[in-house]
Amino acid sequence: MTDDAKITDLGALLAPYADKCNQYLDRWLIEPGVPDDLARAMRYCVMNGGKRLRPAMVQLAAEAGGCDEVEIVGRASVAIELVHSYSLVHDDLPAMDDDVLRRGRPTAHVQFGEAMAILAGDALLTRAVSVLAESNSARANDLVLELTLRAGPAGMIAGQVADMKLCDVPGGIEGVTYIHMRKTAALLRAAAAMGGIAGGLDDSKIEALGQYGQSLGLAFQVFDDILDVTADAAALGKTPGKDADSDKLTVVAQIGLDAARKLGAELSEQSIAALDSFGPRGDKLIKLADLLIKRTH
Ligand code: IPE
Ligand code: IPE
Ligand code: MG
Ligand code: MG
Ligand code: MG
Repeated sequence: MTDDAKITDLGALLAPYADKCNQYLDRWLIEPGVPDDLARAMRYCVMNGGKRLRPAMVQLAAEAGGCDEVEIVGRASVAIELVHSYSLVHDDLPAMDDDVLRRGRPTAHVQFGEAMAILAGDALLTRAVSVLAESNSARANDLVLELTLRAGPAGMIAGQVADMKLCDVPGGIEGVTYIHMRKTAALLRAAAAMGGIAGGLDDSKIEALGQYGQSLGLAFQVFDDILDVTADAAALGKTPGKDADSDKLTVVAQIGLDAARKLGAELSEQSIAALDSFGPRGDKLIKLADLLIKRTH
């Protein structure tokens, strides 16, 4: 049995990639000239025990393709985690989900006040783009395009707008899929595709990775909705029961827990099917899809 085959736990699979991402973040998060108080808030929002799933996907996808340029893969990992972390800071604001707990600590607006939380989120988003743009790699432009397309107004923001019921959304499971596809799957799609772009893969492989990331992102949000009902705050590091309290359009509310678990497992299978053309090089991405649906936080 190889060492990789022995990994049976999501944390163990992610750990080496999370460690690398944290080292890259230490290097690139704060650029010269950032006021100390803003830098403190930015670090609080990012250096705080996130799973680092998206940066791990970037690195795993790049590895699956050979990964010949280490630095741009690192920059892509940082960029996606900064966008994700900003999205959490804004998602938790009183005007949005109004949450007080994130990654096991008080949310940014509880810790620093709303104005600083908003501005720290703005700073993380802006820094995500410059971390890519300041690289000398010829791949930087395509990375910026993929990230901003998926995180932007036709992607993650559209999902958040729909989640907040600020636009028309279909009812029932169709509406759930509409929201999940955008608010979560778009960024996981970007993570996998950015790994392919940063790793220098060809277009067909980048598309396959994008399909993998998108299906896995749908599965991931299905389990996020499930965990909101089944997990406790200590395991989650965020407040459980928020979705029902806020009358959110979730998969559990629409089809119930058992059907939601089945759907999540099917979506994970779909993500694995997208990796056919990778052969054994896709094994770790497959393992990630297997373990993600067993996660407890
Ligand atoms: C939480 O994402 C937000 C969703 C899109 C469901 P994660 O569960 O990846 O959060 P962290 O980064 O580990 O805190
Ligand atoms: C968050 O969805 C999606 C984004 C932050 C873009 P949720 O609102 O379900 O995430 P949690 O449960 O607060 O982490
Ligand atoms: Mg939300
Ligand atoms: Mg939320
Ligand atoms: Mg949630």
